[in-house]
Amino acid sequence: MNLFRQLSLHEKLSEDIMGSKLQFLTDEFGNRTGVVVPIEEWQKSQPSSPSSADLHPDLVRVIVGADEIHQRVQTLAAQISSDYAGVGRLYLVGILKGAFIFLADLARELSIPHIVDFMALSSYGKTTTSGAVRILMDLREPIEGQHVLIVEDILDTGHTLSYLYRNLKDRNPASIRTCILTSKRRPNPPADVPIDYLGFEIPDVWVVGYGLDFADRHRTLPYIAEIKKTV
Ligand code: XMP
Ligand code: MG
Repeated sequence: MNLFRQLSLHEKLSEDIMGSKLQFLTDEFGNRTGVVVPIEEWQKSQPSSPSSADLHPDLVRVIVGADEIHQRVQTLAAQISSDYAGVGRLYLVGILKGAFIFLADLARELSIPHIVDFMALSSYGKTTTSGAVRILMDLREPIEGQHVLIVEDILDTGHTLSYLYRNLKDRNPASIRTCILTSKRRPNPPADVPIDYLGFEIPDVWVVGYGLDFADRHRTLPYIAEIKKTV
């Protein structure tokens, strides 16, 4: 797989990265504005990503390191804060259990007024998808007239988000948007759901950490990692 990560020129590049083939991005005047490095090299340079030797035996590799998550969450929160500036209060709807860590970090970076609530949806057991979605725990208050932001951990087939989006939209919020931590690059594009804010596109593998789990395991890892198919 050919994965690359775009870095700003201000990021400290490790000697590993400097030794690999660098592709620079330039603006219209030919100034260097960024650099693209192979993701494997970039991951090696992440201090908070354990080397494969230090990974739990269930795990294959780190896909997004803790530092990168932290930076991305700050960027998303800044974007959201700016987009909703002056709008009033933002109603964050976190989807349990997977989004609780993402939501906690994101909400604390917001500079606009906001409240937090949660929903729990039936998720398919282990790694197969049925497409059927059920509400296990609903919001405590009506959201009519509220500016709603759905905060979800991962988009796979898109069935969960598509169902949720339609369900909440029917409750007549003033506005409704989605903020998704990760989206899988799948052979079939996900169901038709608007993604307004996205953390990371990731490969089409089962991932754990930063809220994501496999049968409730590995949920509180600080990074996002691929889990072995045999687990
Ligand atoms: P759909 O297919 O409805 O799936 O977009 C979204 C829900 O499926 C779960 N899911 C995962 N959970 N690692 C996880 O921990 C994964 O790789 C993964 N893929 C899908 C998750 O509950 C999400 O809300
Ligand atoms: Mg989930």
